[in-house]
Amino acid sequence: MTDRSSGAVSAGDLAASTDAVILVGGKGTRLRPLTTSVPKPMLPVAGYPFLQHLLARIREAGMTHVVMGTSYRAEVFEEYFGDGSDLGLDIEYVVEKDPLGTGGGIRNVCDRLRHDRAMVFNGDVLGGTDLGAVLRTHVDNDADVTLHLLRVADPRAFGCVPTDSEGRVTEFLEKTEDPPTDQINAGCYVFRRSIIEGIPEGRPVSVEREVFPALLERGARVYGHVDQAYWRDLGTPSDFIRGSSDLVRGIAPSPLIEGRHGEALVDPSAAVAGGALLFGGTVVGRGAEIGAGARVDTSVILEGVVVEAGATLERCVIAAGARIGARAHLVDSVIGEGAVIGARCELVGGSGFARVWPGVQIPDGGLRFSSDI
Ligand code: GTP
Repeated sequence: MTDRSSGAVSAGDLAASTDAVILVGGKGTRLRPLTTSVPKPMLPVAGYPFLQHLLARIREAGMTHVVMGTSYRAEVFEEYFGDGSDLGLDIEYVVEKDPLGTGGGIRNVCDRLRHDRAMVFNGDVLGGTDLGAVLRTHVDNDADVTLHLLRVADPRAFGCVPTDSEGRVTEFLEKTEDPPTDQINAGCYVFRRSIIEGIPEGRPVSVEREVFPALLERGARVYGHVDQAYWRDLGTPSDFIRGSSDLVRGIAPSPLIEGRHGEALVDPSAAVAGGALLFGGTVVGRGAEIGAGARVDTSVILEGVVVEAGATLERCVIAAGARIGARAHLVDSVIGEGAVIGARCELVGGSGFARVWPGVQIPDGGLRFSSDI
């Protein structure tokens, strides 16, 4: 079957004859210290490792063969997902000894591909786009590569990708103050296999900066699939928290939490004392304890965390096993694994996030942000 003949092929058959490739090799430096022990795609959002939401969406679209391009903390992925059969998937893992970048990561999985078409995902994008529709656009255009392009209100912070009236990509533009289009690269692509085979091997390659511009230069058929679906790159603490909250509140789609949306998602094994207030799409992980009168707004509370009575948290991530003392006040803060924030401490992020490294202990009353004592 050639791509051109597939107009009559059902969405399910198209997906079933497409490999899914997920790039999960990044170091996730912007999310430190959460990523010092856990790779970014394995950080829990809305109660599941982020990657599990993406895998569920891939499965829902009808793709079953998944290849993960790993590098940083590569072993963690296979330990958790195994061969993927529990999720109805067939997952393979390819490890880069030294990170090969996004393009090099795609090239590096080439010999595991089973089909002539691969859909490539950045492992840290939370998206709601219709994956079947992106595949259909690719096939209908007989494209070499199709990029999911997202229409955004303010494209200035992103590289822009203009298309012509036929949807064919005309340029790849770096960030600019005056972008000529509101279409940005959403980090999800469909590749014809032969194009992947043509990416240089054995050295770092950026798909955005090297592969795509080179394809345009030599006249390859590069198309865009444009929509305005839900989309968030979970690369920073603020986006990570927003993404988790959006999943809990049902603003971002995930097959894993359908029917359980609300102001908070609390693991059944967590203990929430009377009078504690959880809202803003807060998630409370396994075995965590939230004390009486605590107020937790738009936050990610991971496994085994203790938040003592009367503490207030707003836009925080509290990593596994950390303890937040009574009446502590935390805003825009990331607390590393096993850290202890003493009672009555104040920790308020400013233009960035306050970050406390794993295991650090701040004594009771040991840190204040108030203008008075
Ligand atoms: P920061 O260090 O915070 O920028 O995060 P990052 O290292 O994850 O980089 P970035 O967010 O730009 O990466 C986008 C996606 O590509 C993520 O899903 C990464 O896991 C993935 N990625 C980045 N570099 C590599 C690489 O060298 N190899 C592979 N396989 N994946 C990569």
